[in-house]
Amino acid sequence: MSGYDNDDVPILNIPCSERIIKLSELFYNAFGCEPSYFVRVPGRVNIIGEHIDYCGYPVLPMALEQDILMAVNVIEESKLYLRNADTKYKGVDMSINAYEEFNITPDSSGKPYWYNYILCGIKGAMEHLNNSSCKGLQLYVDGNIPPASGLSSSSALVSAACLSYLYAHKGTLNKTAIASLCAKSERYIGTQGGGMDQAIAFLAKKYSAQYITFQPLNATPVALPEDATFVVAHSLAEANKAATNDFNRRVIECRLAAKILATLSGVISEEKVITLSQLQKILNNSLNEMRELVLKYIPKDIYTKAEICKILKINETDLDESFLTNNTKHLTEFKLKQRALHVYEEAQRVEDFRKICTYSKLESATTNGAINGGTTGLANNDSGEILTALGNLMSKSHESLRTLYECSHANLDELVNISRTVNIHSRLTGAGWGGCIVALCPKEMVEKYIDTLKEEFYVKYCNLEKRNADSYIFATTPNYGALIYKNLVI
Ligand code: GLA
Repeated sequence: MSGYDNDDVPILNIPCSERIIKLSELFYNAFGCEPSYFVRVPGRVNIIGEHIDYCGYPVLPMALEQDILMAVNVIEESKLYLRNADTKYKGVDMSINAYEEFNITPDSSGKPYWYNYILCGIKGAMEHLNNSSCKGLQLYVDGNIPPASGLSSSSALVSAACLSYLYAHKGTLNKTAIASLCAKSERYIGTQGGGMDQAIAFLAKKYSAQYITFQPLNATPVALPEDATFVVAHSLAEANKAATNDFNRRVIECRLAAKILATLSGVISEEKVITLSQLQKILNNSLNEMRELVLKYIPKDIYTKAEICKILKINETDLDESFLTNNTKHLTEFKLKQRALHVYEEAQRVEDFRKICTYSKLESATTNGAINGGTTGLANNDSGEILTALGNLMSKSHESLRTLYECSHANLDELVNISRTVNIHSRLTGAGWGGCIVALCPKEMVEKYIDTLKEEFYVKYCNLEKRNADSYIFATTPNYGALIYKNLVI
């Protein structure tokens, strides 16, 4: 088996697809040689469990068909040659002598350059390999995950770069190890993301969503109801979480909420920062009890820096150094109750969603099996009820993200509201502030639902021509995780 095992990123023969041929041609024209291998990393859509991974709570995403495909060649000089099939992303060449010297800074408007994500992945891989035998790479990227859409195009780029470099240097191919490494690498961009995007990129399986837990990282397949389809629709508002401090602000508000709750409930912790989930474990409380604790100990809508310092018995310098990030140090007010309530309630919704999916599988196994001798009217009713129950959880998730977490956008709310008029539940997916919604749609309604969104949202609300709306909306099912393609000699 040449050291390959199931927990490793699979290495498959290069498929003879049009996309691969086209990318090979671009590669040849740029570098005068064939790529020696390809790396493919998918985007993702998160079904439920938003903004809770960095608090340590499980999430439920699935991989998309859309991906980053990277053609790669390894070279002896310590240089990177980066090209993108989308000509709006200009190519760059640079030396890579030591990862400590990487300069990952955004443009003058604060927006990261497209290749900064590649640098994050390579920096992380070099650090992991201790800079050993620093070969260079020629990389040609072809991506079809819409950027700034909450579908994880940036994580796919970071992960593809990291995987390319690791493979070139015979580093680990263990999926869990790379996922954790990529989560850490992406933080070089400046945002304190959790590990959801990278975890699903590597641990995804076709046909099922994944229930992802952290510390330790693990993925358990969750079969979604067979009569459900997930529809993803773009709000036409771009969301780039690395271009503002909105994301980091939420992360630190959660950390501060955890620290204050810990202090006021008498938890003596050695650690400087603890998460809301670590605190729940220490207290051995239910999620509902944690909710009560939030209302008891952090009841105010706004907390100032001075108030927080007083409760934690620290000075502002300690607060800045132990809790705040570079782009949040200047903040003076924080919303702790709202963020913590969202996290504990959303964590409960993930558990409920998973339980319903598991229950519905068991139900259909008995109602369709020998015991009942086939489907009955009752089974059909049940399946409608199951979709409604799951849908309700998604609607509640959106409402909480809109009001408590304040990471929605008027366009996202409009999409969710239009969906409700035709009895479809949906929610924003990914970090928010723009990007996409994900909707739970009974299979037989998909066509009608997509048409409704085209008419009511893209045409009436956004003034697009209907035929141009096609690229912004699609139905999807769970897809494969990351792969390496190489010519395998048999
Ligand atoms: C981004 C982050 C993830 C997660 C989501 C919100 O995608 O990268 O880790 O926090 O936002 O759920």
